[in-house]
Amino acid sequence: MNTSRRQFLGRTGRSAALAAVGVQFLPPSRLRAQTARPGNALRLPTDLSGDSLTVARANLAIWPGYSTEVSAINGMVPGPTIRLLRGQEFAARVQNDLSEPLVLHWHGVLAPERMDGHPRDQVAAGRSYQVRFPIRQRAATCWYHAHTDGLTAKQAYQGVAGLFIVEDPGEVSLGLPKGDHDVPLVLTDKRANSQRQINYTPTMMDTMSGFLGDVMLTNGTPDAWLSVDRGLYRFRLLNASNARIYKVGLDDGRAFLLVANDGGLLPAPVRVTSVMLAPGQRLEVLVDFSSYAVGASVLLKSLPFAGGGGMMGPSQGTEMDLLRLYVDRAATGNATVPGVLPPMPSYAPDQAKRTRVFTLAMSGMVHTINGRLFDSQRVDFSVPFGDLEIWEYRNTGTEPHPMHAHGALCQVLSRSGGGQLAPEDAGWRDTVFVNARETVRILIRFDAHPGVFVHHCHNLEHEDSGMMQNFEVLPPPGLAIRRDGDRVSLSWPESAEGWRLESSSEATGPSWDPVAELPVIEGERWTAKLIETTANRFYRLAKP
Ligand code: C2O
Ligand code: CU
Ligand code: CU
Repeated sequence: MNTSRRQFLGRTGRSAALAAVGVQFLPPSRLRAQTARPGNALRLPTDLSGDSLTVARANLAIWPGYSTEVSAINGMVPGPTIRLLRGQEFAARVQNDLSEPLVLHWHGVLAPERMDGHPRDQVAAGRSYQVRFPIRQRAATCWYHAHTDGLTAKQAYQGVAGLFIVEDPGEVSLGLPKGDHDVPLVLTDKRANSQRQINYTPTMMDTMSGFLGDVMLTNGTPDAWLSVDRGLYRFRLLNASNARIYKVGLDDGRAFLLVANDGGLLPAPVRVTSVMLAPGQRLEVLVDFSSYAVGASVLLKSLPFAGGGGMMGPSQGTEMDLLRLYVDRAATGNATVPGVLPPMPSYAPDQAKRTRVFTLAMSGMVHTINGRLFDSQRVDFSVPFGDLEIWEYRNTGTEPHPMHAHGALCQVLSRSGGGQLAPEDAGWRDTVFVNARETVRILIRFDAHPGVFVHHCHNLEHEDSGMMQNFEVLPPPGLAIRRDGDRVSLSWPESAEGWRLESSSEATGPSWDPVAELPVIEGERWTAKLIETTANRFYRLAKP
């Protein structure tokens, strides 16, 4: 059953009842709540049912009384939420019913090369394609969006984006807020005209700095509000905007807890009064409403910060209202703030094999990486599978760039200026904010899938105008795995020099250990025969 539909029907049903029975039968407080609330009840994207994702133009009643033309996924903006348990397989048929090419990218989800949504895999109007791969990563709030060559900004702006939530049993058992206390907030800013059409018509300046809107749609809802109880809530924030950066906080300055970012839970909750969220990034926060009285309300907003840019409408850093929260009832549910989060292994910088420098610069009206613009035919660099690397972003320009590499999660190592890392920098990220004139170093290792992936700025106007690279994750030597009950036999070519067999309970991440048994040569192949004491081990070859 469609939650947002149910909500809307529920609301309509109530007002119909109001008309039928006469207002005098309703308790006065209830009546006030019904009539005094400006704006619109927050819509909640429904979970994907079935396995088709159909992208098509649609007219939706985003603003009451208006019909807005969008590009919807299964008729919804944002699209349906893909929700999978780690270990499950993701399978979907993507149907492109737009009148232009399309490909979808699963942002933050580690997908094999040809499933990842590289622009070269886009399909023509009217065509469809199949995606299928297993989910092998820790729980995280990921998302998906259009990634079409030169059309990413336009299509994402028109609505081709949704949440992709990975869950795992370990996270579920922590007792975090769930059900209607686990609320996704997909933040987008739009430029709506008097007819409430959200046309994508960037000027040259917009293309250079990014397309900034003047109205917020939170989960596709303008002037959104949510009725909450005095309990603990988990808000999953996704910045699905083309270019706008948010400094998310409560308008009364109260603190909340930052618990997760792009790559899932942080090593520990961090108390904050605001968090920075750049395009492409996700953050999860716990807000405790027990210090509010029933009847109080508070505004979740983007606080002002020094930004610049944006010649049309509110500039970068302008205050924006995200969600009005009405505290309507006593607490229900029994969620608590977990004292301990699951252990989070981290990379050791001294194990990095090399440092790669990326100079981000402005050249004329466009932004370049190492002096070049994207060429889909050119592979700009290659990375050996499994090597830990330091990537150093040197932003020589005056605009911020949220940098995103497909195919791996990373950790922020340092920021120039010698300052402390921000709370948002802890844990695993896939999109790293690089401020104007800043140098940021990250630790990154590609050990999920070999192949050609993209690395780009997630300011979508920057991306589309060429601030993107192809890179290739070079494959490790082929590893043949044969299982027979708890016996497993692994082999690889004798010619592969210097590779060592490692195993882990996680397919990606830093928890790999060398396999103690020494391999022997058997028929021109190194062979190791093991007995598995725990199920679901993963194996790989790595260069020590
Ligand atoms: Cu969300 Cu290549 O991007
Ligand atoms: Cu991505
Ligand atoms: Cu950029």
